[in-house]
Amino acid sequence: MRATLITGASMGIGEAFAREFARRGNSLVLVARSGERLAALAEELRSRKVEVLVCRQDLCRPDAPGRVHDFCLAHSISVDILVNCAGLSHASDFSAIPPEKAEELMSVNMLALARLSRLFAADMAADKKGGIINIASITGLQGVPGLGLYAATKAFVLSLTESMHEELKEHGVKVSAVCPGFIDTGFFQAAGHERTNEILPLSPPEVVVRAALKGLMKNRMRVYPTMLDTILAFSGRLVPRDTAVRLAGFLSGARAN
Ligand SMILES: NC(=O)c1ccc[n+]([C@@H]2O[C@H](COP(=O)([O-])OP(=O)(O)OC[C@H]3O[C@@H](n4cnc5c(N)ncnc54)[C@H](OP(=O)(O)O)[C@@H]3O)[C@@H](O)[C@H]2O)c1
Repeated sequence: MRATLITGASMGIGEAFAREFARRGNSLVLVARSGERLAALAEELRSRKVEVLVCRQDLCRPDAPGRVHDFCLAHSISVDILVNCAGLSHASDFSAIPPEKAEELMSVNMLALARLSRLFAADMAADKKGGIINIASITGLQGVPGLGLYAATKAFVLSLTESMHEELKEHGVKVSAVCPGFIDTGFFQAAGHERTNEILPLSPPEVVVRAALKGLMKNRMRVYPTMLDTILAFSGRLVPRDTAVRLAGFLSGARAN
């Protein structure tokens, strides 16, 4: 069976990906920790006559990506599209971030994404087809005071995805990095952002999904889901770097303004 694998499918942008792929009739493998949420979503999507399997994993664990890959092998699933969406942030100056939170953030945002990409990219390259969508962020374009570690993990995602995009092109595999700005999910609350600090408008997760799928189809290296994201990304190149960093910190709302 061919299927689309989505990490972080239990809520937010990942859940929106799952709904859209189900609407398109794709079989799905949903990955996250929240078993009940995943089970409820799977149940709902199966009523649309698509196959949905749940693979509950804590992607902090170094062996989790291998377990996800083994799960697919055990169910005779060939993953045609991988969406690396699981991620978290933490609003804090870098020196004040609790060590265990820093480990969690780096493990999920970077290590799990890299391990999953490597495992499934090898299968796709052997198959001479497939697609990988890695969810980065516009915070990955420069340092962001108050959000430094998160921004650094997203810079990692961007850089790795760009290299993979070029390397896998000749093997028939499309790879895109998606750089959303401000999306209306539980993400900011979970990261401890003060909602009152938010200056810029939030877009619905479906905007990210539509842009990502269009971008992958055209094999775009980078995808900016909204006009605002595009403006923010390019305006950052027009000002001195330290100004861009200060502006990103101000706009992120991670610190009290
Ligand atoms: N929201 C935004 O404005 C925004 C902007 C730019 C980029 N992004 C990126 O978009 C992606 C999705 O964010 P979102 O807004 O949808 O956030 P969200 O609503 O908080 O969802 C995060 C997802 O990641 C999963 N996850 C977190 N830690 C995990 C772990 N240890 N193991 C497995 N799954 C884990 C969560 O599932 P469980 O808790 O069930 O495990 C959840 O499904 C992230 O990579 C984020 O960095 C978001």
